[in-house]
Amino acid sequence: MSALPGFVGGALKAKLEHVSRTDLKARAQRISKSYRAGGGSAVIRSDLDALAYAIVRMPATYAAVRAALAQAVDVIPDFAPQSLLDVGSGPGTAAWAACDAWPSLERALLIDENPHLLALAQALQAPLDVSAQRGAIAAALAAAASADIVTASYVLAELPDATLRATLARLWDKARLLVIVEPGTPDGFKRILACRDALIGFGAQIVAPCSHEAGCPLASAERWCHFNARVPRNRDHIVAKDAIVPFEDEKFCYLAAGKGFAPLARGRRVLATPKVDKSAVTLTLCAPDVPVQQRISRRDKDAYRAAKRLDWGDAIAENRSRTS
Ligand SMILES: C[S@@+](CC[C@H](N)C(=O)[O-])C[C@H]1O[C@@H](n2cnc3c(N)ncnc32)[C@H](O)[C@@H]1O
Repeated sequence: MSALPGFVGGALKAKLEHVSRTDLKARAQRISKSYRAGGGSAVIRSDLDALAYAIVRMPATYAAVRAALAQAVDVIPDFAPQSLLDVGSGPGTAAWAACDAWPSLERALLIDENPHLLALAQALQAPLDVSAQRGAIAAALAAAASADIVTASYVLAELPDATLRATLARLWDKARLLVIVEPGTPDGFKRILACRDALIGFGAQIVAPCSHEAGCPLASAERWCHFNARVPRNRDHIVAKDAIVPFEDEKFCYLAAGKGFAPLARGRRVLATPKVDKSAVTLTLCAPDVPVQQRISRRDKDAYRAAKRLDWGDAIAENRSRTS
């Protein structure tokens, strides 16, 4: 479980000090309802709305991005990025997750058209040099310098479909490593798949989650490629969401694509919760065009023990040991 980093959690707590929980809850519910109905972030119209977004959504989007980045780090362990560009940054969620994944990061540029979310991001005492640019992604990117990492977290869904390819080309142009995270829904996967196809066309190396650049095994399956991040809930989160359990599960899709990396040891991604019974562990693994089922018998003691530790979203090396 990835909780928000201390500098974010602490700042949000301080900002909540004089805020009515009833008001916060009402704002949070209005924002969630609007997102569920397919609306974008225009529903966030004040600093208090931005705070409500950060309380109810940021823990989950942070956990999803952090989980995606952990998988990328496993594949490119020597990558030590210094600069980051976070588009549709909102309160800087992906930037803070990247900071945690890569302590080498020194500076970040956040781009967003929402002044309230951007102000919240700037109010956090992040452990790197942060600048912010308010504006539309396309225009802001045209003027932005390239960065070691470009992140776009939960933002493509808010752009018109017709602009997706042009936006992606701009993002790719600026990035050494591009990380896109989307909701773990069929629609989110459709966008990720479109990005994957386009990026492979641009010559990208797919770092994660895919095990190869051939046909996606879930492209025309009934299932879609997505993963789960378990998110711890603090008290304010529980109150704002009227929740009962102290955690929630955030389903997400993602894609990390890079350029100029040495050949990647990606292993094979586990695409579903492993099935464990008395005699074997059965894994559903990413492979070209169709997923493969791999049964690891209990008689194969070391491999069985290693397979039992695997979870949905992990990758195993070709020799069956865990890469993460
Ligand atoms: C759902 S929020 C995600 C925020 C953050 N990336 C996260 O993961 O928590 C989407 C963000 O994208 C921004 N956004 C959407 N369309 C945009 C555009 N065309 N130009 C700039 N920002 C945009 C919104 O203002 C909002 O902050």
